[in-house]
Amino acid sequence: MLVNSVYLSLAILLISMCKQGQTATIMGSTMTDFFPEVYGNVSLVTWAHAVNNQAYLTKTLADGRIMMIEADISEGIESNSSDKLIPIMAHPPNRESDLSLESFLEQITNQPKSTIRQGVKLDFKSLAALEMSIGIINYYNKETFPLWINADILPGPINSTVKPVNPYRFLELSKKLGNVVLSLGWTTHYGPGMVGKYKDTDIETMLHVINSNNILNEISFPVRAGLAAESLDELLRLLKTVKHSTLTLWSHENDNVNVSKLNNVIKEIGCDRIYIDVPESLRKQLITS
Ligand SMILES: *[C@@H]1O[C@H](CO)[C@@H](O)[C@H](O)[C@H]1NC(C)=O
Ligand SMILES: *[C@@H]1O[C@H](CO)[C@@H](O)[C@H](O)[C@H]1NC(C)=O
Ligand SMILES: *[C@@H]1O[C@H](CO)[C@@H](O)[C@H](O)[C@H]1NC(C)=O
Ligand SMILES: *[C@@H]1O[C@H](CO)[C@@H](O)[C@H](O)[C@H]1NC(C)=O
Repeated sequence: MLVNSVYLSLAILLISMCKQGQTATIMGSTMTDFFPEVYGNVSLVTWAHAVNNQAYLTKTLADGRIMMIEADISEGIESNSSDKLIPIMAHPPNRESDLSLESFLEQITNQPKSTIRQGVKLDFKSLAALEMSIGIINYYNKETFPLWINADILPGPINSTVKPVNPYRFLELSKKLGNVVLSLGWTTHYGPGMVGKYKDTDIETMLHVINSNNILNEISFPVRAGLAAESLDELLRLLKTVKHSTLTLWSHENDNVNVSKLNNVIKEIGCDRIYIDVPESLRKQLITS
């Protein structure tokens, strides 16, 4: 109790140094409860990205600095085993991995309870992959660590032709998963030398999907850093409309990113509402580094 109130006052003190989101009351969320050491400043949460093979998982589990483990789930085969299709840790076009979802979750949850200090974000590349993962996830998830379920559910900038995961099916399936954080994104078509943004219509479509699905989960919106940098007004509106939601910045290594604009977006959104999972080369240029 005493410890809690100390965290609380520290959090209020710290958040007052950053501009606070207008509707933010992130205190008491799964993440801030599990990671009290960030005092509500979720920009401080550290990520290991694309932990899709055994060697990287072993390294990540041993690395005391990593707080969230992000990984991709595809339908595929486990190396050197039968050719049965199962959920594996792999990013398309890979259809083979030395790490299955089952083994991944088993290793994370099999640590002594007191030493599980890491949360997990699972990025689903297809509905089929999610469908065949439900039983496995429910077997291992005893809600002792934060679990995020991510998919790109809408087509996004710049006129992306990448096919998103069907939003209604995705949300319906995710309701079978208990208390998870939903990470709901747009597909993107972006890269070096390109300029674009999340448009009003992108925000509208996302709001429509959320409103028509009666979602009670915490929500984070993954946004590509270079595009987010150009979309301050749109993203402010999104977060203002969806109470208690957050953004998660992500990026490819060589994306075109206007760093000064991105830093302004981080400042205006508030460090209590923006997770930062970007390559180190970009991370070190941000105000939060
Ligand atoms: C798969 O088998 C090959 C040949 O036996 C071996 O070299 C390789 O290390 C094995 N890979 C895994 C992931 O077990
Ligand atoms: C994207 O599509 C819109 C509407 O069709 C069009 O006006 C715009 O020029 C396109 N942008 C790019 C970069 O292709
Ligand atoms: C980044 O945005 C700022 C503010 O709009 C602008 O002045 C600057 O030229 C941009 N930088 C680049 C590299 O485009
Ligand atoms: C949040 O953490 C970042 C990174 O250390 C820091 O730059 C920023 O000032 C912090 N914000 C608050 C409100 O404490």
